[in-house]
Amino acid sequence: MEFPGSHILSVNQFSREDVEYIFQVADSMQPYANRERITKVLDGAILGNMFFEPSTRTRVSFGCAFNLLGGHVRETTDVKSSSLTKGESLYDTARVISGYSDVVVMRHPQSGSVGEFAKASRVPVINGGDGPNEHPSQAVLDLYTIRKELHSQNRSINGMKIAMVGDLKHGRTVHSLSQLLLLYDDLKIRLISPAELRMPESIVDILKQKGHEVLETEDMESELAGNDILYLTRIQEERFASKEEADSYRGRFRLNQAIYTRYCEPNTVIMHPLPRDSRAEANELDNDLNQNPGLAIFRQTDNGVLVRMALFALILDVVHKIDDTSSDVGWYTERRFQ
Ligand code: NCD
Repeated sequence: MEFPGSHILSVNQFSREDVEYIFQVADSMQPYANRERITKVLDGAILGNMFFEPSTRTRVSFGCAFNLLGGHVRETTDVKSSSLTKGESLYDTARVISGYSDVVVMRHPQSGSVGEFAKASRVPVINGGDGPNEHPSQAVLDLYTIRKELHSQNRSINGMKIAMVGDLKHGRTVHSLSQLLLLYDDLKIRLISPAELRMPESIVDILKQKGHEVLETEDMESELAGNDILYLTRIQEERFASKEEADSYRGRFRLNQAIYTRYCEPNTVIMHPLPRDSRAEANELDNDLNQNPGLAIFRQTDNGVLVRMALFALILDVVHKIDDTSSDVGWYTERRFQ
């Protein structure tokens, strides 16, 4: 795809070459994200960071990524404090906000809303999650993490075995990640969820059409063996009609060190888009895994900054200018490398 000036709304926009290029640019962001170097390449640029649903990582890492490139961030984090509650349309909001920004990141509870916003926007828009539909930047950072984790074990994405676990019906991260997996070959994909929360049939169908081996099951423990990657997800309680309904699925799938030791290969990589639901009734990813070297969840969050820096650099067309305005960091940074 042609990155400069483009919206990033769906992973379906990306070819295999596009993804490889994003990874290459993300790798080059390492000295900046690690606070070895600073750059002012986006000095004066403004990111409109519009989050109309709860978010910690996505919102803050997009903001940090923009700051690390020297740009400024303006945030709107609540529908209640924006004019959308006064009946303003997404069209009008987009016309206005895009006049104040050079690029917009938006998260919104409705599927398709970010695409609708983008149509009216005068600047590029990145989808930070539109309801249960898509979360493209998360999928790219997940795939970037998978690649790095497997490369460190001399393995590759082609031919890998991955299990996705949890609320596969509402989880936009697994919807986007699954569609990115269409760019690779010969995968073994285990979709582990309650029967009512299965991956949408349309996605299962395209994975099978691609030639991947797909198995859907409700039994996690019998499908843990032999996976390269375990990708757990949270029950997306905000998508259910009632809290009681969400509660009925909470805690159905739990991974802890004892289960990992019993069923998984010792180097199995554990991922989760986060937040993990650590309440006792859910505890989907136990804290006793925190010292497990295969637990990649915080490497995932760190990688999110690199990937989001890469997306900004690509769509604002500064990839080749970053080093021109760079210098060494002048403050104490040692703790970051422990
Ligand atoms: C996810 C999301 O918002 O879709 N979080 C994230 O962006 N890392 C997953 C979730 O909320 O469960």
